[in-house]
This record gives sequence, structure tokens and C-alpha cells, in this order.
Amino acid sequence: MKIGFFDSGIGGLTVLHQAMITLPQEEFIYYADTDNVPYGTKRKEEVLQYVEDAVEFLVHQDVKAIVIACNTATSIAIDTLRMKYSIPILGMEPAVKPAVQKCSGKRVMVIATPITVKEEKLRNLLQQVDDDHRVDLLPLPKLVLFAETGNFETVEVEQYLRKELSEYHLENYSSLTLGCTHFNYFKDTFRRIFPPSVEFIDGSEGTVNHLKNILRANGMLEYNGPDVTYYQSGRLVSDQKTLAYYAKLHRRLDTMMSIA
Ligand code: SIN
Repeated sequence: MKIGFFDSGIGGLTVLHQAMITLPQEEFIYYADTDNVPYGTKRKEEVLQYVEDAVEFLVHQDVKAIVIACNTATSIAIDTLRMKYSIPILGMEPAVKPAVQKCSGKRVMVIATPITVKEEKLRNLLQQVDDDHRVDLLPLPKLVLFAETGNFETVEVEQYLRKELSEYHLENYSSLTLGCTHFNYFKDTFRRIFPPSVEFIDGSEGTVNHLKNILRANGMLEYNGPDVTYYQSGRLVSDQKTLAYYAKLHRRLDTMMSIA
């Protein structure tokens, strides 16, 4: 049986990429809701419906587990999905706890979409782990659009980020937590902007390790793949141009992995 990965667009590929390294013999289905991306600036109810539709589609493909590889979708839908389905459903949560634990008295910056920043899930997490109010939350909605249009290394992206970060004293931060899977594509630009001492923290590896542990504990690890089938809003991706683009994104992610 396959493992389903879901995201609004290309962000979740960053988590799938990690899964293909950690679980090289598994088969995957990657579902991108390209008709409705971006989620992070939409109404909550609308996003919940999109996520429920996509997950229903994946469940019908008979997947053995689903990774909601999208922080926005996780913050809105994960509880509802877990109540509805019996297969393991994993989500993405900004890795705030480890960031605060090793901040050594400095500040922690968390970047995400506007929905994730506003949602109760992140606020509750901060209440539990951020006693000293060291965490600053910054929404970066345009970064999702830049990623979806393949705008990764342009002057425009760098100018946008420098402007959004201009009011922060970056040398006061110990880490930058990437609270949106789309943001992993921009690690090279963040590296140019942030001092070298600022560590980048993303949740992909933690989520994939968790997935592996759950599959192992349930005797569900398999030795079939490696293979990925891509869907865009319920349509099978079979054209060579799109598949070649996904392959190109995986190559970009290979280079991003060495940037920490
Ligand atoms: C988006 O569609 O706005 C991005 C979702 C996310 O990865 O948080």
C-alpha cells in the first residue's frame, strides 16, 4: 500500500523529498491542490473543505497513511481528519519547542502563512513552550506565491524578505523556524540575509521519522518502491513537462538540504 502526501501545492514536496530518503522502498502518492493554492490567505472554512476533499480522494486510493505536508492545512483540519479516519494521519507543526529549548537566552523567529500565525493551534503551542515570550511570529504570504510561480532566486524575493525583516534585529535571534513547507525552497536566500549563527529549523525530518516509527510499530513498512504518483486536484499528472518540473524541484531540494 502507498503513503499519501498532501499539500496545497509544491510545499509538501519538501517533506516527500525527505520521506524518499528515509523510506526509499515505499511507494508514495503526492496530491497537490493546484486549483486552490494558496491556502494561507483564504477563509478557514474554505480551506477545511479543500483539505477534506483531498484526503477523501487519498483514502479512496487505499493509502495506508497520510501526511498533511502543509502547516496551514494541519492547523485547520488535522483534528477533524483524525476523528473521521482510522488510518494514521500526520501533520506539520512549526518546531517551536526545540527552537525555544536551545535558544540560549536569544530570540526565536517563526515564519508561516497568515492562517497558521493566527490559528489557535500555534497560539496554544506557544502558551505551553514560550514562558519567557521569546518567540516572534511573522507571516510571509507572498513567499508561497513566489514558490508556486517558480520564483526562487530572484532579486524580487530577496527584496521582499529584506523588507519584511527590516524591523527585526536579526543578530538577536538564535533560530528561524520555517512554519510553512513552501519556505524550505528559500533557504539559500534566508542564509544570505540572516547571520551565520542563526540556525534554520524545519519540521520535515521530524515528521518523516515519526511516520517511519508509526509504520514500523504497526508492521506497515513495505519494500516495493521507490515510486511516486502525482495528482493535481484529483487529476493524475502524466504529462512529461510537469513530471520534469517536479524532478527539477527535487534537485533544488537536494541542494537546500545542506543549508542549515
Ligand atoms: C499555502 O497554500 O498558503 C501554503 C500552505 C502551507 O504550507 O502552510
